Amino acid sequence: KRTVVLISGRGSNMTALIAAASDPAFPAEIVGVISDKADAAGLGIAKARGIATQVITRAGHGSKQAHDAAIDAALTAFNAEIVALAGYMRILTSGFVQKWQGRMINIHPALLPAFKGLDTHARALAAGLRIHGCTVHFVTSEMDDGPIIAQAAVPVMVGDNADTLAARVLKAEHRLYALALGLVAEGKARMEAGRTVLAHFAD
Ligand code: GRF
Repeated sequence: KRTVVLISGRGSNMTALIAAASDPAFPAEIVGVISDKADAAGLGIAKARGIATQVITRAGHGSKQAHDAAIDAALTAFNAEIVALAGYMRILTSGFVQKWQGRMINIHPALLPAFKGLDTHARALAAGLRIHGCTVHFVTSEMDDGPIIAQAAVPVMVGDNADTLAARVLKAEHRLYALALGLVAEGKARMEAGRTVLAHFAD
């Protein structure tokens, strides 16, 4: 399935998806990367791997709707079938979300529904959790709220700070996101009536 990744920054999850998709047996192909930030480090990484990139800034458009319409046009030009948000730091408009519902996924650095939003690692530490992790979910119009596709847990270690915990979660994110994209691309994880339907793994 033709997949476009939306980023705003570092792009380590994007890099993990590109790496996974470089295996011809992987069911998704990364055909493009779109960033809303011209200086996103991930753009250089994608280019170096021969992936088409596009910068579509909010400042270049008169409204949030116009910005999302430009992104939608770029996705159409890429013939995108799946959109993967990977550190894309903007809330998408509901029209855009509805159009891509069931075909757009996001990774969040916490075990949803706990810790939506930012600073998840500091908040997990402050709450005294011993287990933390990450979630890939279908995107709906509520932020960090769509049906869950897959989760990975990591231990919180004695002496962790937000940075050490974030690094442990990030490693798990990279594996989890590739797994979840594969499931969606193969049709083994689908969104139906607001829920995720997972295929049985037995066969
Ligand atoms: C990741 O922690 C992701 O879960 C969150 O933003 C961060 C992006 O990191 N949504 P990267 O750009 O993929 O390195």
